[in-house]
Amino acid sequence: KRDPKFSELTQEHVDFFKKTLSDESAVIDGLSKDATDDIEPFNRDWMKKFRGRTKIVLKPKNAEEVSKILKYCNDNMLAVVPQGGNSGLVGGSVPVFDEVVINLTRMNKIRGFDDVSGILVADAGVIMEVADNYLKEHGHVYPLDLGAKGSAQIGGNVAANAGGLRFLRYGSLHGNVLGLEVVLPDGTIVDDLSKLRKNNTGYDLKQLFIGAEGTIGIITGVSLQTPQRAKAVNVAYFGLESYEKVQKAFKEAKMRLGEILSAFELMDAESQKFVHNKTQMKRPLEGEYPFYCLVETSGSNGEHDNEKLEAFLEHVMGEEIVTDGVVAQDDTQIAELWSWREGITEAIGHNGGTYKYDLSIPIKDLYQLVEDTRERLNSKNLIGDNKTALGVVGFGHMGDANLHLNIPVRQYDKEVEEALEPWVYEWIQKRNGSISAEHGLGIVKKKYIGYSKSPVMIELMKQIKQLYDPKGIMMPYKYI
Ligand code: FAD
Ligand code: MLT
Ligand code: ZN
Repeated sequence: KRDPKFSELTQEHVDFFKKTLSDESAVIDGLSKDATDDIEPFNRDWMKKFRGRTKIVLKPKNAEEVSKILKYCNDNMLAVVPQGGNSGLVGGSVPVFDEVVINLTRMNKIRGFDDVSGILVADAGVIMEVADNYLKEHGHVYPLDLGAKGSAQIGGNVAANAGGLRFLRYGSLHGNVLGLEVVLPDGTIVDDLSKLRKNNTGYDLKQLFIGAEGTIGIITGVSLQTPQRAKAVNVAYFGLESYEKVQKAFKEAKMRLGEILSAFELMDAESQKFVHNKTQMKRPLEGEYPFYCLVETSGSNGEHDNEKLEAFLEHVMGEEIVTDGVVAQDDTQIAELWSWREGITEAIGHNGGTYKYDLSIPIKDLYQLVEDTRERLNSKNLIGDNKTALGVVGFGHMGDANLHLNIPVRQYDKEVEEALEPWVYEWIQKRNGSISAEHGLGIVKKKYIGYSKSPVMIELMKQIKQLYDPKGIMMPYKYI
């Protein structure tokens, strides 16, 4: 239910926003005209699962503008949703009712880069791919990579604490972010754009905003440690007969590829079937296997890396850990092999909808959940030809013990949902896993947080929310 404590948007509010934001196009005004078509993309999430009813979208250009409009919203009890590239997968980036959308797209400037330290300072609205292309020219790499890199923004990455495909190598944003510029709900600009790697001067407050999903403030600037770009990149794609063998292959990859290993991704047969059906691409391997892995190495010496990769391949194939495999010969083939992994989300999503679970699970049990889910939906007669669920798909960031369990459906359906929830979360709780490894809580997981966090921790989180956002205008109805 919409919380009546929040004001409804009036002409007076709209006039203030228009006066405050420098540019006409910075306000999409749903009060003055029928702006349904213009506003629709900001009300709709990537999965087309959630739809808000905002009447206004604001696109500030700098932290000062964010400060003025946020203070005004706080003073006038207007609820707010910060929005980046709107690629989030937990319904966080769109309003639930008529919250004001503050979209960061126009904050898109690179503020500076130091090619000795590798530290990048940028506006929050810079798109990941734009940042990475800029860094490429300077011999560096954006430390995060994910399928939505063409739309997701740096600020959205930080707000969601996104993980992605190279987490295994470059680690968490909790380590890579050195400083933030943030606007609090009362309009205070917190300038903590530190460029220091080491800085032990009290509580590390920026950490609270990493993964806060916009609940306690709006990130307007980010200072980020970026690694040197690898000169030599190799990608191999394997077929394997069992999950036991996948685990063995991962262990061998860590042992034999060590410091050059930059991704170890898992795809099951079902996931590759969906990609194949959607794209009709020629499969990378002749035969079909229950499991596939994508292994990437990134190093500074091509010859040395090839030698290592060959020794690794020889070993895993000789020991029959891997049944068949292919190594990309050039950049086009590298991109092709990656598309079998990165294309899964879209391939399974275009049938109607997908129930998505993004989970951390102790690695030995990781795939068991996919099998248990198949069995459960089968026993309830909910899966297969002419049934609502089209399959049970398992893939993910094996190197980080992060499974993506996805159930594509013809349409979202109560019966399927009730078979899955809270059953999946109970399964995770029993194994001390996490109900959200990298996508966050948003609206999807709000009511399930108790499966991964204790009542004491939830209470502490509520106290932090109360401290930073005492009027509760930021992201009501979501997170906790
Ligand atoms: P949005 O979706 O716009 O917002 C995400 C959340 O952050 C919302 O709660 C929003 O309110 C808040 N927010 C956004 N910007 C700000 C800001 N400046 N200040 C404060 N709050 C803000 N995620 C992964 O972790 N790993 C993956 O591998 C991955 N792959 C993906 C692949 C595809 C095809 C898609 C569609 C999504 C994928 N995602 C993945 C999810 C998503 O792309 C990431 O969470 C991304 O970081 C979101 O960035 P965004 O700019 O689109 O943020
Ligand atoms: C991925 O790893 O591909 C993303 O997290 C997207 C998804 O889970 O669908
Ligand atoms: Zn992922």
